Amino acid sequence: MSDAVSTDLLPLTAKDGPEGLAVGGVALTELGRRFGTPLFVYDEEHLRRRCREAVAAFGPGLVAYASKAFLCTAMARLAHEEGLLLDVASGGELRVALNAGVPGDRIVLHGNNKDDGEILAGIRAGVRHVVADSFDELDRIERLHAAHGFAPVPVVLRVAPGVAAGGHEAIRTGGTDSKFGFGLATGDAAAAVHRARNSRAMVLEGVHAHVGSQVLDAARLADGAAAIARFAVDTGVAGLTVGGGLGVAYEPGQHVPSFADWAGRVRAAARGAGWSGEVVVEPGRSITARAGLTLYRVGTIKHIDGVRTYVGVDGGMSDNIRPALYGGRYEAFLPRAPHAARPLRARLVGKHCESGDVLVDDAALPADLRVSDLLATPVTGAYGYAMASNYNKLPRPAVVFVRDGEARLVVRRETEEDLLRLDVPGPGDDAGSRPVTQVAARRLTSA
Ligand code: LLP
Repeated sequence: MSDAVSTDLLPLTAKDGPEGLAVGGVALTELGRRFGTPLFVYDEEHLRRRCREAVAAFGPGLVAYASKAFLCTAMARLAHEEGLLLDVASGGELRVALNAGVPGDRIVLHGNNKDDGEILAGIRAGVRHVVADSFDELDRIERLHAAHGFAPVPVVLRVAPGVAAGGHEAIRTGGTDSKFGFGLATGDAAAAVHRARNSRAMVLEGVHAHVGSQVLDAARLADGAAAIARFAVDTGVAGLTVGGGLGVAYEPGQHVPSFADWAGRVRAAARGAGWSGEVVVEPGRSITARAGLTLYRVGTIKHIDGVRTYVGVDGGMSDNIRPALYGGRYEAFLPRAPHAARPLRARLVGKHCESGDVLVDDAALPADLRVSDLLATPVTGAYGYAMASNYNKLPRPAVVFVRDGEARLVVRRETEEDLLRLDVPGPGDDAGSRPVTQVAARRLTSA
């Protein structure tokens, strides 16, 4: 498409200003200058509104933010302040949540292969419950209980309900052929309920299922909810969690169910299955994706006659692996001219050493695009920074929250020192501790 970027893909407070597009009252061009690029920018008001909408739709205490979508201390704190529980899926995510001051009883501990240390850390933090994923994990909890003598652990059992949905094969989780959870069809789920009920090491609090992610059809989420609700009714457990999975629009014109739609469908499905209790959900992407965008600086533009144009920016698959991993599709626009027509077709690429380092395969961009322009890709607030890497030793970007005309740095940019932090020094490694840019500058001045 060659029209201006759709406002449906922008954060809620996005607004035109004298310097082009502003988010949270701050011009994106100013953020690019002030904090450098690549930069993740989050609209704090948008994040808070999404949290509130989710709580309004499902009810207080019934929404756990799936922190894997985007987690740092500031985000954990924000979700907690807005009344959400936190779903953490590793000891590391637990650590960040606790560091943010989130009380243990507001945290649920997930993970298909938690080790002893992670389970113990969860128990010591007093997590609301451990979502147990396998018979081996039940063994582990019993062994730890026998060794440490703590109170019985509140446990929810993750079930593979035989319903899988989602935007890509890699993110469909709820089928029978899945590494996650106890199979419903195989009888493992019923056996796990029996086992947990008869264990002195745990208290069975409920069952859980998550069918997949980036699901745009609420009926599929309802199918999953119906399957797990039926099982919850049959087994007489007290609690029911139906996971996350609500999709977002990455491209214009994609229809996305609201939280209210999702809640209505899921509740009706659960009721239809005979469930009269509460239903807990775990949204991740639908809270953070559209609230965030990434700013890059254009470094090179290459026209290949009769083939295509490449636009190279200063990030790439290390800050957004989704196009390479899932064929994720994104838009691009210039913050200085967000409403400009975009007749130029170009492949937006990063600075990594491979041809698969593509951010937008066929981006529509303004004709006057030039080197040193600031460029934005919207809807990168979920599974972008969270999945960032140091490939090619690129330092990971900074993250800023903007609100009411103020920008605050919530995650600083990595430095070259950070890139060396884990390397164990060997003999004669002294020179290596100087930043490369400094070494280069010295060479230039001494020449
Ligand atoms: N609950 C559980 C148990 C999950 O495994 C997940 C996501 C969620 C909740 C949150 O799902 P959401 O609301 O965000 O769809 N990296 C992939 C997505 C992987 C999702 C993994 N589990 C991507 O970039 O598309």
